[in-house]
Amino acid sequence: MAHFLTPAIIEQRAFGKLHWLTFQSPELASGVRPGQYLLVRCAAPQSYDPLLRRTIFVAGVDRSNGAVSLLYVRNERGTDWLAQCDGGDQLDIFGPLGTPFNLDPRTRSLLLIGAGPGLGALLFLAHEAAAHGGAIVLLASATADDLLPPPFLLPPDVEYQASPDGDDSALELLEVCDTNSSASAALQSPISWADQLCAALPPAHLITLSDRIRSTKLRWQDGFAQALLADGMPCGIGVCQSCLVETRHGLRTRCKDGPVFDLRELR
Ligand code: FES
Repeated sequence: MAHFLTPAIIEQRAFGKLHWLTFQSPELASGVRPGQYLLVRCAAPQSYDPLLRRTIFVAGVDRSNGAVSLLYVRNERGTDWLAQCDGGDQLDIFGPLGTPFNLDPRTRSLLLIGAGPGLGALLFLAHEAAAHGGAIVLLASATADDLLPPPFLLPPDVEYQASPDGDDSALELLEVCDTNSSASAALQSPISWADQLCAALPPAHLITLSDRIRSTKLRWQDGFAQALLADGMPCGIGVCQSCLVETRHGLRTRCKDGPVFDLRELR
């Protein structure tokens, strides 16, 4: 259940514009799951500028010491404020919120495709999946090198391909993989290879991904492909109604009904 927490920051590291912030919260570390997010207050204690909390996805946990890590991009005044926080500073957060990814325990080949603010959730999912065994491929893209997660944030056995040529270039990586005969079996035909696929992409790219799956898979079963809609959740708690998304069952909110949906549910 979501609630307010004021944990202390353990450390913050910057990789270009990407920041990896770790804080102490055994309670959160034991319950949060990949795909869930936190609302982080990004203003000084007496200030309300900016007023809205920032939506940041949990990117990892260490349950042995109760540490929780977030991955975010420093790109506006809220995240500028967060980036100057240091070890020992106290955060003001609300969460965890949102529906998580549903990893099938039978999955042995997991394909992750992501760009943008949902990449942190895919890192967390890669670690959870690696703990259960099986093979994992992550295709990530961004608009610049310094927006791509460094490989050492991933479990060592993950096959990681990254492109800085735009948010849609993760989908181009699928094409490249398909034509590269020297790539591993997983990378030669990632969609065919995968038992399960989890994406964190802008909606327009999810349409392209759906087309790719339809043209590759003879049978597309429910649960095979899940999509995290990471953008556009200003309030994050179901109040503003500005995060509506059209699904097979009508309009749904990304924040309360998602942000993870079965890809076939999305219109
Ligand atoms: S973000 Fe406000 S209702 Fe979803």
